[in-house]
Amino acid sequence: MKGNRKVITALNQLLADELTATHQYMVHSEMCDSWGYDRLHKAIEKQAVDEMHHAEWLIQRILFLEGQPIVSKLNPIRIGKDVPQIIGTDEADELAAVQAYNAAIKLARAADDQATADLLTRILAMEEGHVDWAEAQRDQIGQMGLQNYLANQTAAVSG
Ligand SMILES: [Fe+2]
Ligand SMILES: [Fe+2]
Repeated sequence: MKGNRKVITALNQLLADELTATHQYMVHSEMCDSWGYDRLHKAIEKQAVDEMHHAEWLIQRILFLEGQPIVSKLNPIRIGKDVPQIIGTDEADELAAVQAYNAAIKLARAADDQATADLLTRILAMEEGHVDWAEAQRDQIGQMGLQNYLANQTAAVSG
């Protein structure tokens, strides 16, 4: 089914964002692993997998709309030097993702492409969950202090 060209361009921009986030979170997740912060490693690894799924869904949709998925384009990757920086950069990127999905949903609706808007709304809800996670980590660091927070991250996640 031939899709609206503006919608396909917006989907490709979101695809670049998702691929960038996947790469950034993989590095952040492995940094946490190398420091022995098992719980943070697992949490960020799970987010990297979420972003990879978003990239897959965007590729599926672009192909359905007879567009060409562009997977060779990445935004600049921002690697934090320590845990607060890692959480801070990821939080900023998740807030930017919420804005980008809201804008793309508006565009898809204006183009009368409700199924694309539905897909983007599903992804948006997951991005809001990622923002929520980062905010909770930042709150915990503020409330219990960085050292206590980090001490809690060394325990392996059960299950
Ligand atoms: Fe995502
Ligand atoms: Fe996300």
